[in-house]
Amino acid sequence: MTKKLYISTYGCQMNVYDSARMADILSPLGYTLTDQPNNADMAILNTCHIREKASEKTFSELGRLRNMKQAKQKADKGDMIIAVAGCVAQAEGAEIMKRASYVDMVFGPQSYHKLPEMLAEAARGSGHILETNFPIEPKFDYLPDEAIDKNLSAFLTVQEGCDKFCAFCVVPYTRGAEFSRPTSDIVSEAKRMIAAGTREITLLGQNVNAYHGVGPNGQSASLARLIYELAELEGLERLRYTTSHPLEMTEDLCEAHRDVDILMPYLHLPVQAGSDKILEAMNRRHTGAQYRRIIEKLRSYRPDLALSGDFIVGFPGETDKDFEETLQLIRDVEYAQAYSFKYSPRPGTPAAALDGQMIPEDVKSERLSRLQALLNEQQLNFNKSFEGKEISVLLEREGKREGQLIGRSPYMQSVYLQSPPHRIGRIAKIIIEEGNANSLRGKLKPGSIADAA
Ligand code: SAH
Ligand code: SF4
Ligand code: F3S
Repeated sequence: MTKKLYISTYGCQMNVYDSARMADILSPLGYTLTDQPNNADMAILNTCHIREKASEKTFSELGRLRNMKQAKQKADKGDMIIAVAGCVAQAEGAEIMKRASYVDMVFGPQSYHKLPEMLAEAARGSGHILETNFPIEPKFDYLPDEAIDKNLSAFLTVQEGCDKFCAFCVVPYTRGAEFSRPTSDIVSEAKRMIAAGTREITLLGQNVNAYHGVGPNGQSASLARLIYELAELEGLERLRYTTSHPLEMTEDLCEAHRDVDILMPYLHLPVQAGSDKILEAMNRRHTGAQYRRIIEKLRSYRPDLALSGDFIVGFPGETDKDFEETLQLIRDVEYAQAYSFKYSPRPGTPAAALDGQMIPEDVKSERLSRLQALLNEQQLNFNKSFEGKEISVLLEREGKREGQLIGRSPYMQSVYLQSPPHRIGRIAKIIIEEGNANSLRGKLKPGSIADAA
């Protein structure tokens, strides 16, 4: 009998990858995915703890699921197993159990390979299940070979956890210590993805460029080595990786941007702030000048490299002058796109204890809007610079409008155009007609794919 599985995913790409693996694990037990929670036999919330707002969503969505579970029981349609997974589960597992007694199971990001056991335990009626230990055996050894989601552009987790301990960040606590998968496992998984139709792979890790898995010769392999190995795979057209830390931008990785054709000219390299005082207080372990030098080097190897970043405004102790230094760094680097956030104190992190130095909410809001205005301006300029140019686009899916296809440029921009749907999956040359704030509009270059009229 088939059962319906609903998964709601918050947070980073790592959670997207994990949600897909949970669906893979549950598929042999008869669960098929649904996007309708109300009649689901099992609902999983894969949560994010990174900022207060993200983490609060867990409890509001849990409230909605509780109502659906009760309605289903009342209508005699059976039970709905409610599970909380991910980083809030890891950080606040016991609290969730206490506050939400209707939750059947809570498990952290490193334990979801035990889902079949947990379900069996739940079926025996043994009460609530809490799995938030960091298991000794990595979950990757227990994941099924067969993946049910077959994407043209897919995520592949190569590294997990973080040993950097930035003063504001919960990730080292929710995901645990750094762990890198052996290169042979990654290559096999990539081959399976390619055989199933994947043409672009994004290698994932909280600290992906700190990757140091066991390589083919039994010695430790760097991310650059892994990239060279994957670039040999027949049928793989594009490679990306995220998220990186500036300290780990090693020479061999910078060179890979020059030497590996399929490595896309786009890099997400968060700096967080521009002032050395704040960078030090954040425990980022590099200065603004060091970051600028890395960017310079990367651009000397790959002049068209598009950069993306993350910024936090209002870190404890941030003065107007510190903030101005962040704006200056943004002006110097020129980002193609970026993410920016107001500092959010997180329980258990060192920065949350800097009580006396907290920045008022209105100051944070004002700084964030100035910073975002600058970043938006840079992003628009970047997109406008493509008008009249030709770029290659992986056509991924149909758009909202009739006859529209959407794909991505090498620089991660969304590109839309009019084209019949049978071209999905192709990489086509597109002439850009208009660069907008968040996307590019273009048209197919005549003759750029074999069937083009
Ligand atoms: N491993 C990645 C991503 C970590 S989380 C990295 O090192 O960059 C993604 C982003 O969320 C961070 O880069 C940071 O900008 C932001 N972030 C993390 N903790 C935060 C906090 N307490 N308040 C506001 N933003 C935060
Ligand atoms: Fe968090 Fe810093 Fe690790 Fe990134 S490098 S996950 S910001 S602790
Ligand atoms: Fe959020 Fe956990 Fe990712 S806290 S950003 S889901 S690692």
